[in-house]
Amino acid sequence: SSARRELVAGLITDVPDWPVPGVTFKDITPLLASPGGFSAAVSELVENAPREVDVVVGAEARGFVFGAPVALALGAGFVPVRKPGKLPRTTRDQSYRLEYGEATLSVHTDAVVSGARVLVVDDVLATGGTLLATCQLLASMGATVLGTSVVLELASLGGRERLAGEGVRVDALVTAD
Ligand code: PRP
Ligand code: MG
Repeated sequence: SSARRELVAGLITDVPDWPVPGVTFKDITPLLASPGGFSAAVSELVENAPREVDVVVGAEARGFVFGAPVALALGAGFVPVRKPGKLPRTTRDQSYRLEYGEATLSVHTDAVVSGARVLVVDDVLATGGTLLATCQLLASMGATVLGTSVVLELASLGGRERLAGEGVRVDALVTAD
């Protein structure tokens, strides 16, 4: 509902000049610390989820915080996509570009069966690099990515357009510049 989304939006806190001067960081920790706010965010993600999700996927670390409760509520499994070197069995890895440098995400090759219907959940969509790398990992394993859901979209960074160019749809509870 719009009331719940306004509650969520009001709990995401601007931190000026972090991590570098000129950047305003969107801090979700006050949202997580609020029982009503956290619950509202998870409920909205669940209500807007596609039908028939087999697996919710979340990327380390903040994708775990929202992805796991969404999976439970949907009656789906949860699959973690991790930073490299953390998963004990055979992995598939995907590198992606950051503003400065490169990052890699990693998932167990047997984490999803071919044809599994997957919802990817994260806290924030910025440039879209994280969600895109996650979706590419899943697609390469034969999963069907039904969509992606985030709490907050930073619209000016163009992540939505970048994902659309790869055929990935994104739902956002809250949009900011
Ligand atoms: C943050 C955030 C998203 C991502 C969004 O994760 O949690 O996953 O950035 O940015 P993008 O759309 O440009 O990829 P970060 O990599 O900082 O790690 P964390 O989740 O471990 O904090
Ligand atoms: Mg993250």
